Amino acid sequence: MKKNKPQKPKKTPFDRYAHYIEAVQSVEHDVELYRDLFKQARRKEPRFLREDFCGTHALSCEWVKLHRDNRAIALDLDPEPLEYGRTHAETTLNTSQHSRLQVFQRNVLSQTEATDLIVAGNFSYFIFKQRAQLLAYFKKARESLKPGLGMLILDVAGGSSMIEHGVERRTIRSKELGKYTYIWECVSFDPVTHDAKFAIHFELPQGKTGKRRVRNAFTYDWRLWSIPELKEILMEAGFKSTAVFWDTAKSNSDEKYEIVEKGANHEAWIAYVTGLA
Ligand SMILES: C[S@@+](CC[C@H](N)C(=O)[O-])C[C@H]1O[C@@H](n2cnc3c(N)ncnc32)[C@H](O)[C@@H]1O
Repeated sequence: MKKNKPQKPKKTPFDRYAHYIEAVQSVEHDVELYRDLFKQARRKEPRFLREDFCGTHALSCEWVKLHRDNRAIALDLDPEPLEYGRTHAETTLNTSQHSRLQVFQRNVLSQTEATDLIVAGNFSYFIFKQRAQLLAYFKKARESLKPGLGMLILDVAGGSSMIEHGVERRTIRSKELGKYTYIWECVSFDPVTHDAKFAIHFELPQGKTGKRRVRNAFTYDWRLWSIPELKEILMEAGFKSTAVFWDTAKSNSDEKYEIVEKGANHEAWIAYVTGLA
């Protein structure tokens, strides 16, 4: 009689986007922050957002939920995250919200209908390593903003944690995905070119005591642009003015982004550079 082979424990499929969205993004917070930065600069509420490098376009979906008059255009080149967004974030929208969202598989270098706000989130524009490429992107973005009203928001990160090799680990506990570890690695930094490589890994519990490691779930090959470089290139691209929003909150648990002329050094900081069209 044939003996039954011992069954290997079944691997549940790993959903890298679900883990990314939960561990990295906080779209409910971000839509309010972007709206508030715009209001500080323009003394008006923005209604029309273009989300560049949108990936799963969770931010745009949240934007059309934020107000019944809000509209969003979302652009990304890669059909895979766009499809993920169609079958996930978009399914949380009602008919009215859905009718105010347009998603395009398109290069961010394309001009679109003019919007109030363009956001290039999670440092995605760091993909442009040459000054001429970044300038071309900023020019197209400016042409896709309403003159005298539009605003481009770029997040920018810095500090020693962005240039020294190392990992940051965070335990995430969620209803949907359970407990797992998110790992952000600064893989390398070249001080001559400012080329910088980063990776996101995950560790998931497996069986009673085991661990499943998902290495390089996402990898990034970027140029680390500095705030003064971004401001100069924005002005060259025709923006009328630029500003830097820095977190001036006294405690680490609070957040208060205000326009500053100087910032306080820190091992890991995130700021927002804006250009007014
Ligand atoms: C780091 S992901 C960011 C996704 C999302 N914005 C977020 O906050 O998590 C970068 C995205 O940019 C897209 N991308 C890269 N170059 C692009 C380009 N020239 N035009 C449009 N999308 C681009 C990639 O396909 C990828 O989905």
